[in-house]
Parts: sequence; structure tokens; C-alpha cells
Amino acid sequence: MKNTSVTFKEMKKKGEKISMLTAYDYSTAKLVDKAGINGILVGDSLGNVMLGYPDTVSVTMEDMIHHGAAVARGAENALVVIDMPFMSYQASVYDAVVNAGRLMKEGRAGAIKLEGGEEIIPQVEAIVKASIPVMGHIGLTPQSINAMGGYKAQGRDIESAKKLVRDAKLLEEAGAFAVTLECVPADLADYISNEISIPTIGIGAGAGTDGQILVYADMLAMFSDYRPKFVKNFANIGEMMMAGFKAYDDEVKAGSYPAPEHTYAIDAKVLEEVKNI
Ligand code: KIV
Repeated sequence: MKNTSVTFKEMKKKGEKISMLTAYDYSTAKLVDKAGINGILVGDSLGNVMLGYPDTVSVTMEDMIHHGAAVARGAENALVVIDMPFMSYQASVYDAVVNAGRLMKEGRAGAIKLEGGEEIIPQVEAIVKASIPVMGHIGLTPQSINAMGGYKAQGRDIESAKKLVRDAKLLEEAGAFAVTLECVPADLADYISNEISIPTIGIGAGAGTDGQILVYADMLAMFSDYRPKFVKNFANIGEMMMAGFKAYDDEVKAGSYPAPEHTYAIDAKVLEEVKNI
């Protein structure tokens, strides 16, 4: 059955855990969807994982639409959430609504996600008013890396912990259907999850959130530039890919691939005619 923003809210009410993974292309989305994962985030982490940028700052609306539409074509049941990239919503409410609309119309998203709390509440309210489901994202917000001064856990002192609680409540009031908590101390994430009625989706936020999300290339050990503390390797696909690439390289160089069973036949008479030209 197709998961929607409403399904997510109902799952929290029933006490059911929500699973999410990122994906950036059709084939991966199909696999994630078939595995029964509830939601696929087309994260702007595609800037790091797919495009090789050092951060998410350079990711564009065109990148998100291109990858988002591919994922949407592969996701039959999972809710597809597409990230709003840096500077597609911060400058004005108008930008936010127009760009969220493009992610829905051209990217075929079921919802959009944007980073920030109090400072982007007018944008969240306006997007929700336009009938677009919004997922918030607080804690470590990678688009603000240059202001934050590094990728580190958030909400560890009284002031920043209070701000996270306030931001989560404001996002709920503004109409967000869920909120991502990234790199937030487990006990604080647990507290926030109990304080709001919409689901919290944690990444590096402990087991007390209503759902979990990971970058698929991290949890399959395919991305090796860096490895956050919260990542668990659920399979070593990076190693398997490397072994496959090496085996192919060996066989091509030895001339053992392709073998006769991998080739197409031609009638001997046709070939003879060709040679006689
Ligand atoms: O871009 C992304 O993949 C994300 C997740 C880390 C939550 O925002």
C-alpha cells in the first residue's frame, strides 16, 4: 500500500516504527521500495554521495528534480520525500513555495523536506497552505555547515537543547507532518519525540525516535570518504562491487570475457557476403 504523509502520522499513533533510507536513482529506489521501507528520501546528500562535492551547498534544484523524478519512477509504495536544496527556500516565502511546487510537479515527490526551525516557519506554513506535505529537519543541518563550523552533534548545552525542543514544536504547529532529528543526543531526541504528536525520524539520534533514516550508501559501506559514528554497516556492498570490478578487469585483460555464451551469432552466409564486398 502506498505510504503517504498521513500514513506516517498514523504509524506514530499506533506506535509503529517508521523506516526510511535515502536513494538517488531508479534502480536503488526499486530495491529499497521492494524491501518494504516506508519512505525514501532523495536527500541533498546526493551532493556528497553521487556528485562528489565536499558538502551539500552546491546542490541545485535541477539536481534534486533530476534524481527525484528517477526515484519516484522506482518507488511503488514508499513515500518519496525530496530535499529542498540550499538557497531554494531561505531567501523568501515566495521562493520556498515555487520551488517546493517544482519538486512536486517535476520531481513527483510525495512530500518535501527543508532544514531549520524558527527561522523558516513562515516558509513551512506557506508550503503547507499550498497542500504540499512538509518534513522538517533540525539538529545538525548540513546546509548550514559554514555557519555551524563543522559536522557535530547538536543540542548538548541548555540553550541549544531548548532551541531544538522549541523548533520541533514550532514545526508541528506550522503543519509539518514529521521532523528529522540529525545528530541529537539520544535522551533529548526521546524527549522531543514524546513532546510532539508528529513522527520524529532520527539519524544519529538514538532509538527513541519514531523512525530512523540512513544514507543508503553509508549503511551498505559503498561511500568511504568519511563515516559518521551513528552508521552501522548492514552489508559490505562496497567490497562486493570492488571484487566484481576487479574480476571483470582480470577477465577482459585475459581475454576470457566475453565467452561464446555472451555473444550474438550471425549466419555464415551473411558473413561470407560481407567479407566479399
Ligand atoms: O540529505 C540527506 O540525506 C539527509 C539525511 C541525512 C536525513 O538529509
